[in-house]
Amino acid sequence: MPSVLHNFIVFEGLDGAGTTTQMKLLAENCDKNDRACRATFEPTDKPIGRLVRSVLQKQIVTTPLALAMLYAADREDHLFNPVNGLLKDLDTGKLVICDRYLYSSLAYQGVECDFKKIEAINDFPAPEYVFFIDTPVDECIRRITSRGSATELFERHEFLEKVKSNYERIFTSLPSGVKLIRLNGMLGIDELAKEIFSTLFTE
Ligand code: TYD
Repeated sequence: MPSVLHNFIVFEGLDGAGTTTQMKLLAENCDKNDRACRATFEPTDKPIGRLVRSVLQKQIVTTPLALAMLYAADREDHLFNPVNGLLKDLDTGKLVICDRYLYSSLAYQGVECDFKKIEAINDFPAPEYVFFIDTPVDECIRRITSRGSATELFERHEFLEKVKSNYERIFTSLPSGVKLIRLNGMLGIDELAKEIFSTLFTE
């Protein structure tokens, strides 16, 4: 298996940065332009991903390392599941667009766990593109609060500051062949969507 997966596109950013919105808009734009794609997200909505969400929603308490292992197990299944894994879609030539990937584990779980351990359990192939939506922590917190839902495990200012500096560190040593595209998260939703689409589809 190649170490960089062609046509695999991931969105990364802090909670509230807008990755989910942009993942959906890119998929819509691909549909409109007859480019076959699969839009997806991590943690997934499959059994292991649902377990992760119940930890995030504080219904289950576990250790940071156990949670890191759950994220990694969810990812392993997401990529390699013999019935509906992402590799099968990539093999058929689809563009796979994923809201969060292993860089979220390195940045978030790296805050509370040994970084080398998190790296070791996330020895997965790299995507071709990483779109990093760079949104200030204050703005992320403002957006999370305005959603009005109960805050999840990681949605705290001090924690997100640490996640942000982890992302910066990780992005200095991405494997060669991975294209990192940094986006200004303060731009409007449509402006960002246009920038993403034109990065991918105009030379
Ligand atoms: P996300 O799907 O962005 O949140 P929601 O859809 O609930 O708004 O991600 C859920 C949380 O999980 C978010 O705080 C980021 C975190 N996360 C990790 O800590 N590690 C990971 O590997 C992934 C994929 C997400």
